[in-house]
Amino acid sequence: MDVREKIVVVTGGANGIGRALCLRFTREGARKVVVADLNESLAREVAAEIDGIAIKTDVGQEADLQQLVEHVTSSLGPIDLFCSNAGIILNGGPETLDADWQRIWNVNVMSHVYAARAVLPGMQARGQGYLLQTASAAGLLTQIGSAPYSVTKHAAVGFAEWLSITYASAGIKVSCVCPQGVRTDMLDLAEGGIADHLRETALDPAEVADAVIAGLASETFLILPHPQVAEFFRHKADDYERWLRGMRRLQTKFGANP
Ligand SMILES: NC(=O)c1ccc[n+]([C@@H]2O[C@H](COP(=O)([O-])OP(=O)(O)OC[C@H]3O[C@@H](n4cnc5c(N)ncnc54)[C@H](O)[C@@H]3O)[C@@H](O)[C@H]2O)c1
Repeated sequence: MDVREKIVVVTGGANGIGRALCLRFTREGARKVVVADLNESLAREVAAEIDGIAIKTDVGQEADLQQLVEHVTSSLGPIDLFCSNAGIILNGGPETLDADWQRIWNVNVMSHVYAARAVLPGMQARGQGYLLQTASAAGLLTQIGSAPYSVTKHAAVGFAEWLSITYASAGIKVSCVCPQGVRTDMLDLAEGGIADHLRETALDPAEVADAVIAGLASETFLILPHPQVAEFFRHKADDYERWLRGMRRLQTKFGANP
């Protein structure tokens, strides 16, 4: 896909990776970029920078995503590319409160389900459309220090994979972007030791946007802004036990004691 002249929606577009995507899609000639975010004032700032539109959206609420899609479709036209990018992190294991598990499940997983539910009927009717989901390398590997993030990002990858398989014959394309560390506010919220480790190879959000543009151009399902993630993923598939031993060493070095 070439984003020129396309109508694009980016959730979590007010900050970090989402903001970089909004700026880059605009530079590439998108017809209109919609910045959908919980943080309305920041979303307005980004929209003002790119002559886009800011829409306050909580991606964990289905009604918000339905309204977002209806509003964009009726005011601008069909959505060509929907980037379901908003996500959150919280640290912890099984002791994490149910309410927090539910919150991160809604934002990191159900947001993609709600987005798909809202945009797929129109895309199917037109026989075209593109869904881009931001998951994480943690969805292919794991996130030291955070079970809720690891689990929800695995689920996000699983859902993207399923959509890609199921809707290809309807002309609908799906990509899933799985970065490792990216220099955004989120990286500061990851558990201390592992966050410092991830910072060593962290990318700028603009570099993730570069990888997304290339991945959309080639219509690649798995977009890996850090190429080494492909290697780690291969190691995991080749020898799961060995990969787990390596990850346990990382836990000992960078993780907190449970
Ligand atoms: N930063 C990293 O190291 C990293 C690595 C891999 C994947 N990711 C993923 O990239 C995506 C973007 O993260 P980021 O690093 O840019 O984080 P960020 O915190 O800089 O930005 C996230 C944006 O999402 C918005 N948001 C949060 N909850 C929302 C909700 N319920 N509804 C709508 N908007 C909401 C925030 O207001 C913010 O503008 C996330 O899905 C994240 O999991 C980040």
